[in-house]
Amino acid sequence: HMPVDVDVSKLAPGQQTTVVWQGKPVFILRRTPEDLAKLQDAALSDRLRDAASADLQQPAYAKNWHRSLTPEYGVYVGICTHLGCVPSYAPAPGAAPAADAKNTLAGGYACPCHGSKFDLAGRVFKGAPAPYNLPVPPYFMPNPTTIRLG
Ligand code: FES
Repeated sequence: HMPVDVDVSKLAPGQQTTVVWQGKPVFILRRTPEDLAKLQDAALSDRLRDAASADLQQPAYAKNWHRSLTPEYGVYVGICTHLGCVPSYAPAPGAAPAADAKNTLAGGYACPCHGSKFDLAGRVFKGAPAPYNLPVPPYFMPNPTTIRLG
């Protein structure tokens, strides 16, 4: 497989785009400072599933609170870990709306099939049928505005 380069220079804070990599949708999200503050909020963390197995869902460089190389950009395989539907992005209030936002979750991803919800780091909430976080694909950033998948 050839790597896929994604130019993120036009992505505004709070926006996300979906690209195809190895036949799969990959979400690339530019998080706002407010999003990042929310990801570190203990009240939010309490609502997440506490599964050690979630550690399997990202490369070593994304084993951190923001699950990514740099805090600003989130990169996830956009396939629900329950039965494989594509979750919808719901920006946090005040952020630029995404064209595909179809749900009322404030800041995260919601699966249209059976209601699993994920936060802005792709971490699954308690009570969701999805067993794991959204996977982080292998990627790196050859420069500050390019994400190279694969
Ligand atoms: Fe996403 Fe079932 S496929 S909740």
